[in-house]
Amino acid sequence: KPGAIELTINGELFLHTGAPDMPLLWYLRDVLRLTGSKYGCGVGQCGACTVHVEGKAQRSCLLPVSALAGQSITTIEGIGAADDLHAVQQAWMEEDVPQCGYCQAGQIMAAVDLLKRKAQPSDADIAQLTNICRCGTYPRIRKAVRRAAQ
Ligand code: FES
Repeated sequence: KPGAIELTINGELFLHTGAPDMPLLWYLRDVLRLTGSKYGCGVGQCGACTVHVEGKAQRSCLLPVSALAGQSITTIEGIGAADDLHAVQQAWMEEDVPQCGYCQAGQIMAAVDLLKRKAQPSDADIAQLTNICRCGTYPRIRKAVRRAAQ
């Protein structure tokens, strides 16, 4: 279809025919019904909407679909399954990280990105994760990142 934007999401090809400037987060949640990525602030500050674009953590609330043509996107739904959790998801369960849970998909996506870049992240590396958690689960996030790095 002319003007359609091709995106690969969790390994599947999609054609976006709606508004080209639709933010990726809206496309994921409202069009594809992939609701694991959350809307927190909508202005790139909180990280609740974090996904991976070409393997790197990005805040999807600020990314227009038109900027992502031909790129490969992974959401929280694409990194593991209930019966086959990603090592970071497993560590999150073992450390019982979430309180309300709202920010945690974004936290996990940011942590997966960090651990890809640094297999043994230091406290300073972990402190560079800037996703906000209103419940203050940061100490458990740190423990879970350390556990996943083992
Ligand atoms: Fe995207 Fe807050 S919703 S950074």
